[in-house]
Amino acid sequence: MRGRGHLAVVLGAALTLSFACGSTVVGEVDDEGGDDPTVWLTVGDPVVPAVDDFLGPFSDDGRSRVVDSANGASVLLAHESELKPLAAWFHDTFHRCGGFATHESLEAAVDAITAQPGDTGQPDEPAGLLAGEPAAIKRMLPAIDKTRILATIMGLSSFSTRYYTSSTGVDAANWLRDRWTQLAAGRSDVTVALFPHAGWAQPSVMMTIRGQDLPDEYVVIGGHLDSINVTGGTTAPGADDDASGVATLTEVARVILADGVKLRRSVVFIGYAAEEVGLRGSNEIADQWAAESRNVRGVMQLDMTDYKGSAADIVLFTDYTSATMTDALQNLAGNYLPELVISRDACGYACSDHAPWFQNGFPTVLPFESQMEEYNPNIHSSGDTLAFLGNSTDHALKFARLGLAWVVQQARVFGTTAPGVVRIAQVAYDAPGVEGYGEFVELYNTGGAAIDVGGWTLSDNLQSRTLRAGTQVPAGGWLTLARNADGFTALYGQAPDLARSVPPLANTADTLTLRNASSTVVDQVSWETTGWQITAGPGQSIIRTSPGGADSNTVSDWSVVTADPH
Ligand code: BES
Ligand code: ZN
Repeated sequence: MRGRGHLAVVLGAALTLSFACGSTVVGEVDDEGGDDPTVWLTVGDPVVPAVDDFLGPFSDDGRSRVVDSANGASVLLAHESELKPLAAWFHDTFHRCGGFATHESLEAAVDAITAQPGDTGQPDEPAGLLAGEPAAIKRMLPAIDKTRILATIMGLSSFSTRYYTSSTGVDAANWLRDRWTQLAAGRSDVTVALFPHAGWAQPSVMMTIRGQDLPDEYVVIGGHLDSINVTGGTTAPGADDDASGVATLTEVARVILADGVKLRRSVVFIGYAAEEVGLRGSNEIADQWAAESRNVRGVMQLDMTDYKGSAADIVLFTDYTSATMTDALQNLAGNYLPELVISRDACGYACSDHAPWFQNGFPTVLPFESQMEEYNPNIHSSGDTLAFLGNSTDHALKFARLGLAWVVQQARVFGTTAPGVVRIAQVAYDAPGVEGYGEFVELYNTGGAAIDVGGWTLSDNLQSRTLRAGTQVPAGGWLTLARNADGFTALYGQAPDLARSVPPLANTADTLTLRNASSTVVDQVSWETTGWQITAGPGQSIIRTSPGGADSNTVSDWSVVTADPH
């Protein structure tokens, strides 16, 4: 395939050079002859002025160094003798590895920034198949848990190094395999396996959720599990690079598996081995999948998600990625995560595991933690720790949400147009200030179609209220019922969906029952009573932690939070 040969040259050369950073100088450089041959560099547009300034004029004729630009990257003219000082300058100035690639011909350089082998079209799905999708995504998004992301980063970064030839690098792969195996417990449709590599010890790790409808079509989300230290010191915790990406996609997997959503396509989660030494794990996997002519719907790479270096929340990289799929990802974020600020940038070179996929013709996306010039300054050193990330996963959380929405959208939800069930999802029974004023109850619809709850009743130990005819709980959404419209609005700054629909709720020992129009009990919750040791004080509510998940009807489904109506 076009582009493959090019990447092989890039990676092959990268490995033979002696710079500490794998990709600092790539491409085949001809050392023969006494003159100083011309080479063509590709760099990300944001650094072009600085590079231009450092190199000075290319020749006496005042010719511009920049000969072409596309997709956020540019081709610059240089002399071969300038490469070594440029590499050193890059490292000193940006404190980073990589940053430019070298090409032996103008054609190869232009090809590198313009070729879009993975920018393949995405045929539309029949509309009827999509009805359940927004509900499923909205239902699962709140389940993403940043503390679980933290725990996975902690686990991975506690190996002294995850370098691809080290024994602890192998241990880390096994650890991840074991974590994923736990998540997949009891699921016959999920396989977790190591993907061994012939040339080095560390395996890649793969988890596949088999599609219910189109099992031979794949949605891939990956990050690299290896780490590297090129700056001295003995450890390579790689908390941000790239325990963060692996932890982010692990949380996506956890929520999809816990929810039990049925997906049409197969979803493959990958922890790649040996990324830091030339994308070697992903190169083998993408090559193999291309050789097997696998049908890949899309590939998302998560490499560094937890350092907020820029004003933007998520930066979509435009090189070695599909423009079509990147635009679609930005739309998806706008729909489901409108609070996120999204911007664009480019790596300027094949900087991570999306590149081999792209070069093999598979569409890729790369949401990154910052603008290229503002990423975590501690990567590839013993300082890439969770502590440097403030022991926080607030930033990675955004990527997990985006990753979840993307995976579900790409894999497509199967069979959820069927109606779901209504559950009591939140109860604020001890309102601050005037008691009956701020009490509210929220109902949740687990399915893909709205449910009419007109004539249903909510009753507790004292009284009962009947829901007005025509009242609906939206698909995959909430219905907020209040005792008093004015009180609720004053407390929460928003109007309830329906007022006078909640009976007076006792501050101790009470049971709330939801019955449908034929008086059948649909759901029930109790508080501060036998078997229900749960207490929400004034301003708090009890919430069902996974309203879309299985209903065990026990207190363990519930927890106490600050009252927060949808
Ligand atoms: N996570 C980095 C890539 C990266 C760094 C992307 C900074 C954006 C900003 C990755 O793990 C890495 O270090 N890649 C190598 C390239 C590879 C071919 C050895 C690099 O950038 O040197
Ligand atoms: Zn990385």
